[in-house]
Amino acid sequence: MTEWTNDMAIQRWGTMPRTLLEQMAHDGDFAKRHLINPVLLHMLGDVAGRRVLDAGCGNGYLSRMLAGRGARTVGVEPGQSLFDFAVEQETVAPQGIRYIQADLCALPDLGAPFDAVVASMVLPAIPDWTGAMQACVHALKPGGLFVFTVNHPCFEQLWTAWRDHGEYRTHRYLAEYEIPGPSGANFHRTLSTYLNQLTSLGCHLTEIAEPGLAPDVASDGPDGIDAYVHLPNFLIVAARRAT
Ligand SMILES: C[S@@+](CC[C@H](N)C(=O)[O-])C[C@H]1O[C@@H](n2cnc3c(N)ncnc32)[C@H](O)[C@@H]1O
Repeated sequence: MTEWTNDMAIQRWGTMPRTLLEQMAHDGDFAKRHLINPVLLHMLGDVAGRRVLDAGCGNGYLSRMLAGRGARTVGVEPGQSLFDFAVEQETVAPQGIRYIQADLCALPDLGAPFDAVVASMVLPAIPDWTGAMQACVHALKPGGLFVFTVNHPCFEQLWTAWRDHGEYRTHRYLAEYEIPGPSGANFHRTLSTYLNQLTSLGCHLTEIAEPGLAPDVASDGPDGIDAYVHLPNFLIVAARRAT
């Protein structure tokens, strides 16, 4: 595997083209709309008046959804084009979101501890993901809620496998490997790697979700998306920082 550094990964993510950022500006992409957002919002609960950190906020769509529900939101994003887009949206339609351009592993002072931290599809994008997870947990109040999403480690690259073979296939799970993508690189790690790191940080797991797509929604989606009816493409984890 290439020896990736956080800076190399950030550089790559930060070139995401504006057309793509605009397409996903409202509520993300198809999978986020139908599988991730409803679970995240449910796990985060009533965020009105709560201080929430959107760690690795990308184009800021989730920050805007949370601010729209009354959260006092801070978005951290290091990638240049993503950060610029998020800031621009806040300038055009201010919601009181504070954006900070930073690597989660080298955070400036973010002020008071957060009630909740959400890191959606971010940990797999970071070479030094343990440092990033630690930063997310340390940003919380004691007892605060940490929610993160990853591509389900057991069904990595599900959609393409299903499209090519009509079923899920893989030949590797235990090794860490790179998954190149059009907008940035992601890195496969095992399920136990993520969960054991979480518990080693003193967090208590409260809920895990492996959402499936409703068949009627799949019939309106892109080719091969029925894979998501049968197997979970995402793993969504909620945990509380020790009190
Ligand atoms: C797949 S995108 C997800 C973005 C957003 N959370 C969403 O759900 O749309 C991965 C994000 O992680 C960000 N990222 C990569 N390395 C990072 C780091 N070291 N610290 C914080 N964010 C990072 C990328 O710039 C990118 O915005």
